[in-house]
Amino acid sequence: MLAGGTGSRLFPLTKITNKHLLPIYDKPMIYYPIQTLVDAGIRDILIVTGGRNAGDFLRLLANGKEFGLSHLDYTYQEGEGGIAEALALAEHFADGQKICVILGDNIIEGSIRDAVDEFRKQEAGARILLKEVPDAERFGVAEIKNNRIVNIEEKPKKPKSNFAVTGIYMYDETVFDKVKRLEPSGRGELEITDVNNAYIREGNMTFSHLDGWWTDAGTFDSLLRACNLVATTQVDPARSSD
Ligand code: G1P
Repeated sequence: MLAGGTGSRLFPLTKITNKHLLPIYDKPMIYYPIQTLVDAGIRDILIVTGGRNAGDFLRLLANGKEFGLSHLDYTYQEGEGGIAEALALAEHFADGQKICVILGDNIIEGSIRDAVDEFRKQEAGARILLKEVPDAERFGVAEIKNNRIVNIEEKPKKPKSNFAVTGIYMYDETVFDKVKRLEPSGRGELEITDVNNAYIREGNMTFSHLDGWWTDAGTFDSLLRACNLVATTQVDPARSSD
């Protein structure tokens, strides 16, 4: 679970706290992606965070009891080197096993259980989840030919498809070597899209389509959208009788 970064697109909301601790309707943002992992049968979870609020994650989540977990791992990202740099910190935790990576601001309506189960059966490589969106230029965008992803472009001005690469990625143990070979992008970060393209070049990338709505929450508009989607999806009898 990657929950670092400065959240600069949400300033001044993130001047004092970490983006992933901001409220999405009735829960802190990070609760949703943790629940997504737990619902997929994932029990060993590492939270990668950083900045000045790292201790707040421990106070908020403790050992994960609210999610039915008996333990959570934490690690600290120094600096703001991007998603792939944050992922590199999970090498020790992964210990040669396959991993599922989720960005702490990705909130979904449905479940990733089927995709995770497919990946458990997949011998090697990576699997990503795609979602058709009207504003693909905001995301990594998959170019698909003959039902295979042939390339991913990060925030292209002219997207080659409407299929956004969601912030949910499954990797075999070779991901860490791939991250070590990356060069920083134009925005000075190690890009997760470059990791995914390395798998595509090897012919080792599969994908699933994500059912139900999906949103990130890293801008004012997407944060509001996330709150509204969660609020309208949750049917809580106790609350509606208030
Ligand atoms: C990141 C990835 C992008 C992906 C998105 C999903 O973008 O770089 O490929 O589509 O997450 O939320 P960011 O929001 O960090 O700019």
